Amino acid sequence: MAPHAVAEEAMVANKAEEKPISTIVIVIAMQEEAVPLVNKFNLSEDLDPVTSGKVISWNLSICWSFLKESLGSDIMEFTECWEWDIVSNQCGGRPLDNDKNVSLVYCNPRMVMSADQALQPDLIINAGTAGGFKARGASVGDVYIASDVAFHDRRIPIPVFDLYGIGARRTFSTPNLLKELNLKVGKLSTGDSLDMSPEDEASITANDATLKDMEASFLSYLLSVPAIFIKAVTDIIDGDKPTAEEFRQNLAAVTVELDRLVTQVVDFISGKCLSEL
Ligand code: ADE
Repeated sequence: MAPHAVAEEAMVANKAEEKPISTIVIVIAMQEEAVPLVNKFNLSEDLDPVTSGKVISWNLSICWSFLKESLGSDIMEFTECWEWDIVSNQCGGRPLDNDKNVSLVYCNPRMVMSADQALQPDLIINAGTAGGFKARGASVGDVYIASDVAFHDRRIPIPVFDLYGIGARRTFSTPNLLKELNLKVGKLSTGDSLDMSPEDEASITANDATLKDMEASFLSYLLSVPAIFIKAVTDIIDGDKPTAEEFRQNLAAVTVELDRLVTQVVDFISGKCLSEL
């Protein structure tokens, strides 16, 4: 890129950072994690611009992906609370309490890209659960902000391609938010499995990660806007309990803690610019 084009791009980015944040999208993988927040922020399918997102008086959307057994007849074009139907690959409506919905444990890339493009948020918050390493100070119920993300199961042992596979990147920096809320900070490693193979373990160690999840790096790779990754620890990877069991046992309680933190983060963001975070 020519030097003047680089300078122009930097100026545009700086301007965006000085603008008050007006639209936030919260991306969540599991319905169990999303519904309490949808309720907390009073989000509904209300399309009226006066009443939508009224709790914080911004345009706040929550997206998650889930598998519907069949399409309901009440499909809507757009809802304050977005749902992506992976059967039709379209944005769909409620009902939230349809027990035929099965959460996916990772985010649907098409949903995320559509949310990014259609809603044009100033900021994306990815809120979810993660496994944590006790050797690195993580305990069940801790809530972290990820400082760095990388993949641990994209192994391409060819020079240059290897780095692309790992995809390590720093996340959007939020020093004031971290200070204000006294949050834990750690590096996060993403893969497609809940369990951990010896190869995954070696990569996670190389990534210097405290946390392991199934979505953040992928999201970071897809998104065109700044993103904050808030992760609550449901299970201890280097502990003695089977991961799936510990995850299921702790999911509900840890989600309460996650939601509390997400609410605090949203409150802190309210009225601020990106550069003030
Ligand atoms: N989400 C919650 N716990 C996890 C783990 N151990 N690995 C990947 N994703 C997780």
